[in-house]
Amino acid sequence: MLTANLKPTSQSPLYILGAGAIGSLWGAYGYQAGADIRLILRNQQTVNDYQQHGGIHLISAHQTLVSPVPADYPQSISTPIQNLLITTKAPQTMDALSAIKPHIAEQAVFLLLQNGLGIADQIRQEFPSVTVLQGSTTEGCYRQSGFEFVHAGHGHTFIGATGGSGIRDFNALDQLAASLSFPPLNVNISNDIDAVLWRKLAVNCAINPLTVIHHCRNGELLHKPKALAQMRQIVDEILAVSVALNRTHWLTNLHEYVENVAKTTADNRSSMLQDIEAGRETEIDAITGYLCQLAEQHNINVPLNQEILAEIKRLSREAKH
Ligand SMILES: NC(=O)c1ccc[n+]([C@@H]2O[C@H](COP(=O)([O-])OP(=O)(O)OC[C@H]3O[C@@H](n4cnc5c(N)ncnc54)[C@H](OP(=O)(O)O)[C@@H]3O)[C@@H](O)[C@H]2O)c1
Repeated sequence: MLTANLKPTSQSPLYILGAGAIGSLWGAYGYQAGADIRLILRNQQTVNDYQQHGGIHLISAHQTLVSPVPADYPQSISTPIQNLLITTKAPQTMDALSAIKPHIAEQAVFLLLQNGLGIADQIRQEFPSVTVLQGSTTEGCYRQSGFEFVHAGHGHTFIGATGGSGIRDFNALDQLAASLSFPPLNVNISNDIDAVLWRKLAVNCAINPLTVIHHCRNGELLHKPKALAQMRQIVDEILAVSVALNRTHWLTNLHEYVENVAKTTADNRSSMLQDIEAGRETEIDAITGYLCQLAEQHNINVPLNQEILAEIKRLSREAKH
């Protein structure tokens, strides 16, 4: 049973861990909607810089929205964290949570809104009394500089309780979705969030690493014969893993679905490509790495995904030097 609502109240603000593009989107629109929100930044210096900047500057439809959302760093948090929206990138999550561990309430509710899979299970192991919900968003936002972000594309956000969470209280989830729908953001519940996350994983496996390997925008993958053939093989391998997991009903028309995402996001430079170019860690372990791990557990061969995992890790190491 869901024991608490992830809902900002005067007693328990909504904390946001990972105030980058997505976290700042919810932070800024939440602040404008009058919600009690607090950002958790890395350290005192980041909070000072942020305050000097005057808060989050969010550019949307050629207007700049300035939102001085209150901000803490781990040592300055003074109220127990009951409600936490986590929007760090997958590999940053456990370190970020470990820094705020002493402040996390026993019955806290976390909503993990990020790409990739496997992190929710790690959180449940580390914080067994906490309720972990998951979400997936197609909102598009990027950092222009410092604390300035651009809301580049409106999308949809689905949240829900995964099979692993044991939660079936959809009424409370509905309220939670409504309480996070700060205009213009639109959050809905999915009665089958596992399927939503699995489809998103498939899209991320089939598009993101290939944009790095072929050094191109999403849509260009469809016009490069080698990239298109690889995209189709990646999807075939995901389908093989899905059969072993008895999840085929989640993946109807997966080839068409993935190719359509590449088409509708044709001009996008994937976050993985941007991470590599900036010498940042990628989310490959929570995307292709997660798929390969599942495949190994079920004795399924996924040679292209394994090859791609190794190649992205190699390129990532190279880019950092
Ligand atoms: N951006 C989009 O349009 C979009 C769309 C759909 C899904 N997503 C997914 O959403 C997730 C977040 O993406 P994003 O684009 O918002 O990434 P991002 O801009 O890199 O934001 C992550 C933020 O987490 C912060 N962080 C990392 N470790 C921290 C720590 N220990 N303490 C406090 N803050 C910490 C980072 O700070 P530093 O900058 O100091 O590292 C950064 O500000 C990813 O999984 C991404 O794939 C993004």
